[in-house]
Amino acid sequence: MKILLLGAAGQVGTESQRALAPLGEVAAFDRPEMDFTNADKLRELVRSVGADVIVNAAAYTAVDKAESEQDIAEQLNHHAVAVLADEAKRSDALLVHYSTDYVYDGTKSSPYVETDATNPLSVYGATKLRGDLAIAASGCRHVIFRTTWVYAAHGNNFIKTMLRLAKEREELTVVADQHGAPTSAALLADVTAKAIGAGNLAGLYHLVAGGETTWHGFAQFILAEAQKRGAVLKAGPEKVKPIPTSAYPTPAKRPANSRLNTDKLKTALKIDLPPWELHAKAVIDALPL
Ligand SMILES: NC(=O)c1ccc[n+]([C@@H]2O[C@H](COP(=O)([O-])OP(=O)(O)OC[C@H]3O[C@@H](n4cnc5c(N)ncnc54)[C@H](OP(=O)(O)O)[C@@H]3O)[C@@H](O)[C@H]2O)c1
Repeated sequence: MKILLLGAAGQVGTESQRALAPLGEVAAFDRPEMDFTNADKLRELVRSVGADVIVNAAAYTAVDKAESEQDIAEQLNHHAVAVLADEAKRSDALLVHYSTDYVYDGTKSSPYVETDATNPLSVYGATKLRGDLAIAASGCRHVIFRTTWVYAAHGNNFIKTMLRLAKEREELTVVADQHGAPTSAALLADVTAKAIGAGNLAGLYHLVAGGETTWHGFAQFILAEAQKRGAVLKAGPEKVKPIPTSAYPTPAKRPANSRLNTDKLKTALKIDLPPWELHAKAVIDALPL
C-alpha cells in the first residue's frame, strides 16, 4: 500500500510517520517541500505520488491568529483540502483527514455526536468546517476524524506551555469552564493506522481519548505528574487557580462543551479508547523536566 502523508512534521504528522510505516510505503511531506498555499503544486504532487491513501495532517492550527489571517486559514483548511478531495475522487484514493470540536458552538449539555448541528464560533472552526464539507461534497472515499485538545512530545502544546509557566511563575490562572478530553497525537495516529488497515470506515467519526476534564484540571494534572517525576516548579498544582473564560479574553471564541461522543468509532473498529490520563503521562515521561 502506498500512503501520502501531508503535514508530516506536525504533532499528528510526526506520530503518523511512526504509526503508518508498518502499513506500506509512506511518502511524507511538510511545508518546506509542499506549501499548501500553492494549489497547483499540491495537485501535481498528489498525482505524481499516486497513493492508495492520502493522510492529511497539515492544517492552519493557530486558532487566535486565524481571526486576523482568515485568507490563509481558508486556503489551508478549506481550498487545499478541496483539492485533496478532488484528487482522491479522481484516483479513487482514500482520504483521511482531521477535524475539530471547534466546528460546534459548545452549547449542548451532553457530548456531541457526529450528526449534531455545527455552528463554529471562530474563523478557524469555520474554515475547518468548510474543509469537512468540501470532502463530503466531493464524493471521494474518505474518513474524517474530529478530535480535541491535541498534544504530543513533539511540537508546541498546552502541556509544554504549562510546564514552562510553572517554572517561571508562583501562580497560574487557567480556564475552568471549558470541558473536553486531551487527546494525544499518538492515539490519533495509532487509530488512523488501525482504521486504514481495517478498511471498513467511511465518513465522519469523533476520535478523542476517554474521560473528560477542564483546562484547569488538565493543568493541575500536568504539574502534579511533573513533580512526581522530580520537576522543580515555582507553581505546583495547588497554585493553579480556576478562572472563567470571561476572565481570559482571546481573539477567537472557544466552545464551553468540547466533549465528543466516540461510540460510532468504537463500534466500527471494535476498540476502546484509553482514559486521557494514560497518554498524557506517557508524553510527560518523554519530556525533559
Ligand atoms: N492541535 C489541536 O489541539 C487540534 C484540535 C483539534 C483538531 N486538530 C486538527 O488535527 C490536525 C493535526 O493537528 P496538529 O496538532 O498535528 O497540528 P500542527 O502540529 O500545527 O501541525 C500542522 C502541520 O501543518 C503544517 N503547515 C502549516 N502551514 C502549512 C502550509 N502553508 N503548507 C503546508 N503545511 C503547512 C505545519 O507546518 P509548520 O510547523 O511549518 O507550520 C505543521 O507541520 C489538524 O487538522 C488540526 O486542525 C488539532
